[in-house]
Amino acid sequence: MYQDLKEKVVVITGASNGIGKAMAEEFGKEGCKVVVNYYSSPEGAEEVAATIKNNGGDAVTVQGDVAKEADVVKICQTAHDAFGGIDIMINNAGIEHATPSLEMSAEEFNKVIETNLTGAFVGSREACRHFVETGKKGIIINISSVHDVIPWPNYVNYAASKGGMKLMMETMCMEFAPNGIRINNISPGAIMTEHTTEKFTDPKTRAETEKMIPMGIIGDPKQVATVATFLASENASYITGETLYVDGGMTKYPSFMGGKG
Ligand code: BGC
Repeated sequence: MYQDLKEKVVVITGASNGIGKAMAEEFGKEGCKVVVNYYSSPEGAEEVAATIKNNGGDAVTVQGDVAKEADVVKICQTAHDAFGGIDIMINNAGIEHATPSLEMSAEEFNKVIETNLTGAFVGSREACRHFVETGKKGIIINISSVHDVIPWPNYVNYAASKGGMKLMMETMCMEFAPNGIRINNISPGAIMTEHTTEKFTDPKTRAETEKMIPMGIIGDPKQVATVATFLASENASYITGETLYVDGGMTKYPSFMGGKG
């Protein structure tokens, strides 16, 4: 669909399942060479790699915990070793766990920040170092969340990580825009993934969630993946520092639906 994406090297963290997997497969269909990072599922990652290869792309898998700086460096190094560089860096890996603030230890707070925010920073930094050194007009996409603007009780560490990701992206966008490097965020809302299946198949939670979405439907990972290929393509060549909400309208005050208030 996007001719200019063919043969591009894409690094995707957390790509063995969920939105990361859908993006890896979508970039594979565009003929990209994909570095499929996984944390705990080598089988999942190998399956994704096989799908990519069957669809005209190329892929390599690499284990790594994005909360560890050395692992993020290793993930990026894999792209250099296997495919000779990086063109598109997608910081996708993230974790979430509900804990009321009164019960949250500093360790639990930091764990989510280190994975979701610091991990994305190190990935962006590594990619930018390479882009600047080689004069490449590279692309960075961070997978954020609607909770970069919507506060989320019981998930203070998650909301803080995503809120931080917004200004991290905007700040790095300013630093590297003169080099022609584009940095953007995609902020998904309620998407059906391996992580959310349990809550969204519970009829009560599902109905409550759908009420918070003006379009009234839970999203599919592919609906996020196709936005990522667009953002990485030349069709988005003048977009940088932007957050694209892929949320069925969730960020648009759905409690006002029907003209209440
Ligand atoms: C979270 C989901 C949640 C959605 C909407 C996402 O960032 O990962 O678990 O359903 O936000 O609240």
